[in-house]
Amino acid sequence: MKESENATQKSRWMFFSERTLDYGMNPAYYGDMDRPDGHARITGFCKDTVDIYLRVREGKIEEAKFITDGCLYSLAACNAASHLAIGKTLHQCLSIDQRSIIEHLNGLPDDHAHCALLAAATLHKAVIDYVLKN
Ligand code: FES
Repeated sequence: MKESENATQKSRWMFFSERTLDYGMNPAYYGDMDRPDGHARITGFCKDTVDIYLRVREGKIEEAKFITDGCLYSLAACNAASHLAIGKTLHQCLSIDQRSIIEHLNGLPDDHAHCALLAAATLHKAVIDYVLKN
């Protein structure tokens, strides 16, 4: 590998915003939920799995939690998705997408943008699970 390629590779691997690092190391919403109102599990192409659990009260997300066996970026992305979902209506949750998660985290490396996509897709599926049950 050329020296310039090596530097690019290194900078990609070492990029963490302060919030990504905080959410990844101390994910406040990590954990499962007893009898959630909505739940989804998706395994991404990277083979990592995300579970998102929702508690819904009066049409709004009262509580959101997640579990993942994924990377630090996926922990941060799922924590961001949970944080962004709480207090939102079901409809507003469907607007939480890959881009809004990456913006909330103040950026992700390009080669880990899919971690935010996996978190958003799982959140949307959990909302749909709730809607289908109610
Ligand atoms: Fe699989 Fe991050 S590499 S979710």
